Amino acid sequence: MQIIRVTDEFEALKPAAQLIRQGGLVAFPTETVYGLGANALQGDAVANIFKAKGRPSDNPLIVHISDLNQLEEIVSHVSEQAKLLMERFWPGPLTLIMPKNENIPDEVTAGLSTVGVRFPKHPAAQALISMAGVPIAAPSANTSGKPSPTTAQHVIDDLFGKIDAIIDGGNAEVGLESTIVDVSGEIPVLLRPGGITYEQLCETLGEVALGQSVTEQLSSNITAIAPGMKYPHYSPNAQVVVVKGENEAIIRYINQQIKNQHSLGKKVGAMVYNQVLPAILHADVLLSLGDIHHRSSAAANLFSYLRTFDEQGAEIVYAQDCGESGIGLAISNRLNKAAGYEIVEVNS
Ligand code: TXA
Ligand code: MG
Repeated sequence: MQIIRVTDEFEALKPAAQLIRQGGLVAFPTETVYGLGANALQGDAVANIFKAKGRPSDNPLIVHISDLNQLEEIVSHVSEQAKLLMERFWPGPLTLIMPKNENIPDEVTAGLSTVGVRFPKHPAAQALISMAGVPIAAPSANTSGKPSPTTAQHVIDDLFGKIDAIIDGGNAEVGLESTIVDVSGEIPVLLRPGGITYEQLCETLGEVALGQSVTEQLSSNITAIAPGMKYPHYSPNAQVVVVKGENEAIIRYINQQIKNQHSLGKKVGAMVYNQVLPAILHADVLLSLGDIHHRSSAAANLFSYLRTFDEQGAEIVYAQDCGESGIGLAISNRLNKAAGYEIVEVNS
């Protein structure tokens, strides 16, 4: 397995592009998270992605392009809404679900009649796709169920020896997977919140419906929701509890829980915003989500922190809620899933 470091010269990516063309698996950086890529037009190469990740074969992949001209070999129709979103947000952290063209093998779409397409902004991702000369199908480059990788080291930790090459492009900028919008029907539907916010989508399109996994999260009755999602997501070994409420109440609750858990002999982690952090006492692992008013740092660090808690042996982790506006919707979506929807509301 090769590990290729990205420099300003993309010459170094040539062997990786060659591997893609030959049907190999290459992990590569994008602005959202690292992807595990294969030639999207080659069904057996794509099937190997599922093996390497241990991914259920009925979970479709996103196809990555580096040029709008590639669209016509992937999709059969581009709606007006899709065009508006592409103009404003591509290249970038946005995936569009569109009706697929027959060139796309069933392995990519899990037999669906639609396909997810994304034009990433990361220069190394663009260079790899261009040099390979084919669209690249890629899920996040983690073992299925684990938090998505935001560094090459995370990919090495999960997939070393199972894939052909890893391109190391440093830390992923956004840190959460792309926003997914289904633009194959009449009304666009937000399927997964991400770096492009719901507010930005509505500004561009007017009405945007919320998909089931988003409305579950917004339900006021969250604690009643069984973790009945089909697959576990973003699961660290530690139990994660999301704590929601006023800062003062959060501080009191987490400090009390740390005491309780310590009396049971448990190692406790906490991740909270800077406005709360100095008041959290005696946590065994304490990580900052940054400034509560600038949550891009919370987004960029979330997946990495979930892995850090495991490395440090935390058995239970208290995480401050990230709200639902702007990027908060995407952060909360991942965090709530990591917690299996164990969310505690505390009040002063
Ligand atoms: O930021 C990202 O999107 C990253 C980077 C590598 O591009 N990729 C990523 O892929 O997060 P993955 O496989 O981890 O998540 C893809 C999601 C899955 O939830 C899948 O169910 C959904 O996209 N998806 C793919 N094709 C779909 C389709 N035709 N209809 C509905 N959902 C689809
Ligand atoms: Mg994934």
